[in-house]
Amino acid sequence: MNTQNITITLSETKKEKPQSDQLEFGQVFTDHMFMMDYTEELGWHDPRIVPYQPITLDPASMIFHYGQSVFEGLKAYLTEDERILLFRPEKNFQRLNKSNDRLCIPEIDEELALTALKQLIETDREWIPTAEGTSLYIRPFVISTEPYLGVAPSGSYKFIMILSPVGSYYKEGIHPVKIAVETQFVRAVNGGTGTAKTGGNYASSLKAQEVSGKMGYSQVLWLDGVEKKYIEEVGSMNVFFKINGEIITPALNGSILQGVTRTSIIELLKYWNIPVTERRISMEEVRQAHKNGTLEEAFGTGTAAVISPIGEFFWQDEKLLINEGKTGELSKKLYDTLTGIQRGKLEDPLDWVVEV
Ligand code: COI
Repeated sequence: MNTQNITITLSETKKEKPQSDQLEFGQVFTDHMFMMDYTEELGWHDPRIVPYQPITLDPASMIFHYGQSVFEGLKAYLTEDERILLFRPEKNFQRLNKSNDRLCIPEIDEELALTALKQLIETDREWIPTAEGTSLYIRPFVISTEPYLGVAPSGSYKFIMILSPVGSYYKEGIHPVKIAVETQFVRAVNGGTGTAKTGGNYASSLKAQEVSGKMGYSQVLWLDGVEKKYIEEVGSMNVFFKINGEIITPALNGSILQGVTRTSIIELLKYWNIPVTERRISMEEVRQAHKNGTLEEAFGTGTAAVISPIGEFFWQDEKLLINEGKTGELSKKLYDTLTGIQRGKLEDPLDWVVEV
């Protein structure tokens, strides 16, 4: 139950806002942030909106040593009639708590978090960009702060939310991205932390991304950590394939992150009576489909990535060009529908958007 009062301290100065049509991803931050502390004596306490500012931490704080942290990503949009919409924010706070549980971080009050987020966005509403393809990206996160070098769950934490006006995540914008299939490193295994949104998963992905980036690929596609055969996810997005009319996405197998956009796309396809299968799919199956001309489309889904068409996979020295490297019909329709609902331009038949 949300009974705590959120205090607001307004910033005395206002930063210059970037041009809405020149935004990149995650580089500028608004005037305010939300913060709340946890101690064993007081539990989660002192929820407050304060001017955006650096935080001071003891160098022994456990976050620096053992990486006990979790985060989320969601977006706010300004409609033409000046309403602010959030897309399924309750799902992000539910997932934050699932990640918290996996990382031994105390549960946050989801209702309080959503109330605080609405107040924070209202405080910084002038920062919501309006140009095509832009939005206000929201980054809630929890870090462990106890100064202690023993390997154990921390006794103190900070829950923080910051806001960033963003353009598209990939430099390609809504044009197809090229993805390298990773054959050496693995991201996660069943029983590990792959289903949690924790910094370590992203840190361990950097090496492979650096190598594939040098080869001209935007991201890597992770295969299963045991046989390196079955497709998992791209780290910043889940993946879907259209093969011979069947829409397939890897089933949640204990090492794939359950994306809010992934869930929404499955629900939307079902609502349209388009069959979608969640199952194991190997890279070999994709290669065969490419070979016999039945690989019609591939796309990624994520909050930052939205719907990102995939124009090419590079796997075992072979380039698999998809739909001649162009955006497919289904990817385009899903992108238009999802962003239309998120921006309040289209009807919201599945009741997803929440007004601030
Ligand atoms: C998001 O889509 O919001 C994510 O958290 C992916 C991210 C690592 C940019």
